Amino acid sequence: MNTSECILTRRSVRKFQDKPVDRALFEEVVSLAAWAPSWKNTQITRYLAISSREEIETIARDYAPFNGYILSSCPLLVAVSVVKKRSGYERDGSPSTERGDGWQMFDCGIATQTLCLAAHDKGLGSVIMGVFDRPGLEKHLNIPPERELVALVAMGWPAEEPKAPRRKGVEDLLEWR
Ligand SMILES: Cc1cc2nc3c(=O)[nH]c(=O)nc-3n(C[C@H](O)[C@H](O)[C@H](O)COP(=O)(O)O)c2cc1C
Repeated sequence: MNTSECILTRRSVRKFQDKPVDRALFEEVVSLAAWAPSWKNTQITRYLAISSREEIETIARDYAPFNGYILSSCPLLVAVSVVKKRSGYERDGSPSTERGDGWQMFDCGIATQTLCLAAHDKGLGSVIMGVFDRPGLEKHLNIPPERELVALVAMGWPAEEPKAPRRKGVEDLLEWR
């Protein structure tokens, strides 16, 4: 699959086959996501992979009921977090720009999409999820205070081929001066 094809054919997959994702395969996916660019190469994004069905069901019920139907079939739930106050900051802890901690979210978004594209290249489906009880889940997962939980990614072998949602045209997206 070339890069354009990978970008064009990746879809948010919300229904998965009853088949596990091997740890070795997911490690390959993470090793590819590691090549995402980041602020001064700070590489602040971290992945917590949860493969226990019981644990995924607990998370769905208690912290992410809105996305419960996705979690009901997903064999691997990835909790994506960032190490805070590195990306966009100087060594002395002062913000490098007026954007403050905005750059850490920027880096995490790039890394997460890279993870999803790498997964897609291996035949794995995924969907990024932003709707969940972040403070509650941070506590439940023991995310340390120097980290922030940003997103959940459901991952697995696709059991659906979603239709591509419409995209805006270049004329809406691009202004050329
Ligand atoms: C930051 C972010 C948060 C999202 N949160 C959710 C979510 O909570 N539940 C869900 O079903 N999809 C979620 N999505 C997936 C979007 O709905 C999806 O990417 C969009 O509809 C475009 O579809 P596509 O990914 O198939 O191109 C999220 C996507 C992003 C980037």
